[in-house]
Formats: sequence, structure tokens, C-alpha cells
Amino acid sequence: MSKSEEKLQNNQEIQGIIEEINELRSKKNAIILAHNYQPPEIQDIADLTGDSLELSIKAKKTDADIIIFCGVSFMAETAKIVCPEKTVILPSENAGCQMADMLTAEDLRKEREAHPDAVVVTYVNSTAEVKAQSDICCTSANAVKVVNSLDADTVLMTPDKNLAKWVERNTDKKILYWPGYCPIHDKLMTRHIESVRRQHPDAVLMAHPECPMDIIEMADFVKSTSGMLTYARESDNKEFIVATEVGLLYPLKRQNPDKKFYPAFDEMICEDMKKITLVDILNALKGQCRETTIDEQVRQKALMAVENMLHIPRKG
Ligand code: 13P
Ligand code: SF4
Repeated sequence: MSKSEEKLQNNQEIQGIIEEINELRSKKNAIILAHNYQPPEIQDIADLTGDSLELSIKAKKTDADIIIFCGVSFMAETAKIVCPEKTVILPSENAGCQMADMLTAEDLRKEREAHPDAVVVTYVNSTAEVKAQSDICCTSANAVKVVNSLDADTVLMTPDKNLAKWVERNTDKKILYWPGYCPIHDKLMTRHIESVRRQHPDAVLMAHPECPMDIIEMADFVKSTSGMLTYARESDNKEFIVATEVGLLYPLKRQNPDKKFYPAFDEMICEDMKKITLVDILNALKGQCRETTIDEQVRQKALMAVENMLHIPRKG
């Protein structure tokens, strides 16, 4: 078979899988949610894409019976925390988050004991057990707002030290933090930015708050993944350096064909975010994947922390 015949056959197979996915999703009243870092073919077939905050809100509001969550385990868990009556499926069971794995519920219990006056604000990039030990959750989109809304002088932020340091710059409160981090964002160095800036001197630098502080200090603005998408759409700038996981380049380019986007460092790849395939989604819809489950006592405690966060925007 020639290369072009092979390509045609592959395309036909992919089309066939997508048709089966579409048939099953409507028959089973399922919704496919995908994070902004997911591979292009997954974002393309998703009902909704977004950052962690948007996806938790969308999960809470959907009328679907089944949520196929294309992201990593903490995201599917958050959906299950807010929608216990729905079937939530992460199509690749081993898609985890290295940052979430850096803090256990036992670690947090000890930290709470050591700082009894601190309010515990936990990034959603955490396990359900850790959320259950927390007062309120936050995402990269609302962390500053969440902390500033609290009636407390001292806040313990977990598990991301970089997000905590970003918040510290934007609040008068005393910020304590757990020394966790995202290895994908934390490996970005100032020399990477300097090199891209030399090649593209007119580009503005957008950075995710999981980046280290020396990168944050260089950034023109700091936002969640969806915050960057909104900024790029609305901005008059034509060139952008993107300091986050490279998956975000796909929706940025698709939504702004007249603008240019450069990765800050092309090795910022979260392997866990790339684990789900179209075949995995089809298998999930066929009922061949394990559902996300959470112990009910843990879920109820975690729900309080998540709900406290979801009420923040309404409190203004
Ligand atoms: P966002 O909530 O900004 O999409 O970030 C999620 C994440 O895992 C970043 O690494
Ligand atoms: Fe976790 Fe980092 Fe991957 Fe986001 S990019 S899911 S924080 S490991």
C-alpha cells in the first residue's frame, strides 16, 4: 500500500471512530469535556473545552447522565465531587497529575496542626482526600480572588508553591505554602524566555501562575489557560510567547489565525494530558472503562471546599 493510500485508510478509520463516538454520546446522553491541554483531535470532538474552573462549572451544570472527562484524574474527581449522581469517566485511568501527587491528606493534616490559625486554600490540582482536608479550593483562574475573599490574615496554600508566591504578590495576607510544584512549568527558565524574546522581540509574554517567580516577573500578564485564550482573542498584539504546557498552542492558533504564538520552551509537555485517545473515548462510551468513584464521606467534605470556591464569583 502506498503512503497516500495508508493515510486515506487511517483517515477513514478515524472518521469511523468519530462517527461511533457521536452515535453513542447522543444515545447515552453523554457529554465530552476536554481540558485546553488535550491533543487536537480530542479538543475537536469535545462538547466543551476549558480551564479547570470552567470545566468544574460546566460539569456541575450539565444535564448529561455521563461525563467523559478528557483531562487528568483530579479533574474527573472534581466533576464527581460536584455531580455524585452522574457517571464520570476518565478514559485513561492512569492520567494523573504529578503536582497533585506531591501532597497527601496525612501531610495536610500535619500542616493544619502546625498552623491552626491559617485558612487552608487548596488548588484543585489535588486529590479528593486533600480537598476534603481543606477549607476552600481555588484554580489558577480565581486563586487571588479566593484568597482575598477570606476573612483571615493567614492563609496556607497547597500544593503549589509557585501559585502561592503569585498570590502573595497580589494580597496583603500572610501566605504559607506547601513546597509542591508542577514539574512541567517549574522547568521553565529565564534563559528560555530570553532566547525566544531575541527571536521575537515584539511578542508579549503570557505566563501561567504555575511558572516559577522569575518567569512571572518577566511576564506581561499571568493567567489561567482560558485567561490566556481570552486575552489573545481580545488583544491588539499580534505575537505571543506562551509560558505554559504546549497543548494550549492548538486552541490559541485555531482561534486566532491572524496571530503568531511561540512556545516559551517546547519541552513543556505534560505526558499525562496526552494519554487519552479517540479509541479510549469510544471504549469509555461503550462502558469498558472504570468509573471515577470517591468515598462518600470524603466526597462530602471535598464538596464543601469546592462549593465554597464556586460561590466566590457570586459573592463578587
Ligand atoms: P488551568 O486551570 O489554568 O487550565 O490549569 C490546569 C493545569 O493543570 C495547569 O497545569
Ligand atoms: Fe499537573 Fe502540571 Fe500536568 Fe497540569 S501540567 S496536569 S499541574 S502535571
